[in-house]
Amino acid sequence: MSDKEQKILTTNLGNPVFHDQDSITTENPRYTLLSDTHLIEKLAHFDRERIPERVVHAKGTAAHGYFEVTHDITKYTRAAFLSEIGKKTDLFLRFSTVGGEKGSADSARDPRGFSIKFYTEEGNYDMVGNNTPIFFIRDAIKFPDFIHTQKRHPAKHTKDPDMMWDFLSLTPESIHQVTILFSDRGTPKTFRHMDGHSSHTFMFYNHEGQHYWFKWHFKADLGFKTLTEAEATELAGKDPDSATRDLFDSIEKGDYPSWTAYVQIMPPEDAATYKFDPFDITKVWYHADYPLIPVGKMVLNRNPDNFFAEVEQSAFSPGNFVPGIAASPDRMLQGRLFSYPDAHRHRLGPNFHQIPINKPKAASASTYQRDGFMTVDDNGGAGPNYYPNTFGGPAPAPEYAPPVLPVTGTVARHEYPLADVDFVQAGELYRRVMSDTDRDHLISNICGNLGQAQKRIQLRQAALFYKADADYGKRVAEALGLEVAAVQKLAAMSQAERVQATLA
Ligand code: HEM
Repeated sequence: MSDKEQKILTTNLGNPVFHDQDSITTENPRYTLLSDTHLIEKLAHFDRERIPERVVHAKGTAAHGYFEVTHDITKYTRAAFLSEIGKKTDLFLRFSTVGGEKGSADSARDPRGFSIKFYTEEGNYDMVGNNTPIFFIRDAIKFPDFIHTQKRHPAKHTKDPDMMWDFLSLTPESIHQVTILFSDRGTPKTFRHMDGHSSHTFMFYNHEGQHYWFKWHFKADLGFKTLTEAEATELAGKDPDSATRDLFDSIEKGDYPSWTAYVQIMPPEDAATYKFDPFDITKVWYHADYPLIPVGKMVLNRNPDNFFAEVEQSAFSPGNFVPGIAASPDRMLQGRLFSYPDAHRHRLGPNFHQIPINKPKAASASTYQRDGFMTVDDNGGAGPNYYPNTFGGPAPAPEYAPPVLPVTGTVARHEYPLADVDFVQAGELYRRVMSDTDRDHLISNICGNLGQAQKRIQLRQAALFYKADADYGKRVAEALGLEVAAVQKLAAMSQAERVQATLA
């Protein structure tokens, strides 16, 4: 049959269907018969169409493209896909918002996810970052609580400013990310007009076994463009899928978005002495201290053929590394290393790696894992299913060993020692990086939201802004109609005293 000929409709096992508009019924009256297996197949499959949405980052879209190396960084990493100028690697990039459900608005005030799957010759490498270089918290143990405050109230089932600001004001390390989120950067114009960051610190290591700490930064060649609060709100009503549509349409008409990739590199001996903990994801490394080093170019040039098959079933994990790249002792990252594949097994099943979008493309997987729901490859065929064996099965290759790092001290729930520097970078951002307009928008964006929380929570949070910068705190207090002196007094207290003074 040529492609132009009409295909015959079949059941899902390929049996031709002769009629598809009427169920099999008795004649009078019209009871439907269980013997209509075609009808039952249709209904039963439909009943199972939904899979769990991602517990965070549920709303998103993605595209295919490539990464091309433009600068030599082989002295830092042995990663094969970064080994040669001009080398190209296929990739799949998913953008997302964080807190909303699958149907929520693209223009919501929220960080944006920025997940890249590089299909390298050493297997898949995932860079699962955000459009912000930092995050709200620095320990994975706080993540479920934090996310609950971004989602719906347990009784009202609405977003709840009390929940959100109660948590944030009880979590002072969030101040830096809150300042970014409530600037216009919290509402990017489209996915094409925003940067991406690993946010976490990772480890590079080279062929000689030397290691470095590094962070990824992907700068949008179209520039970082943002919406005002009013524009974002209007767009959420008019076209909740604005960024999804924008990406698809741009690629469809050949207007391919691109990013320039950079890394910041920190020699390991600096880690103990740098003015900020390099493994604290609430902090940036100043570019003046660790400049951006160009690495490559990333282009998106192909839309998915099928959203569910490719975008919904894609599974990214910050623990998918290739030789030359590894984790750091960032305690948020350490928690994430567990959480993503765990979520994939729940959301897509234990064989999620066999789904075409998740399979390595430029390498092949050789493991001793077998069986499980939805095994759709050859399951290892007749080859040995245990290791060690003397039947020619795959064996580990010691030449891929990463560097060995020392640890010292005790095992305990170690409290974070450097909390007093938590306000420094938020203050610098407010004073030095933001323009007058940025600051005006920041204050108004904060007050529109914080103004809906209880007064005692407003006071506690305004004190944190004051601690970042006196002008910042004063302006928030004035805009909310709070007594500036009361905010100043709270700001002078310890966090424990401040919490005590603002209990219900
Ligand atoms: C998605 C957990 C922090 C970026 C997810 C998912 C989980 C999760 C369970 C859904 C995965 C799936 O169903 O496929 C966590 C935990 C965190 C954390 C436990 C902290 C301990 C972060 C941070 C970033 C981030 C700090 C950015 C730097 C993302 C992105 C996605 C995601 C971009 C969407 C991935 C995709 O496009 O499929 N996270 N997350 N997360 N997370 Fe996190």
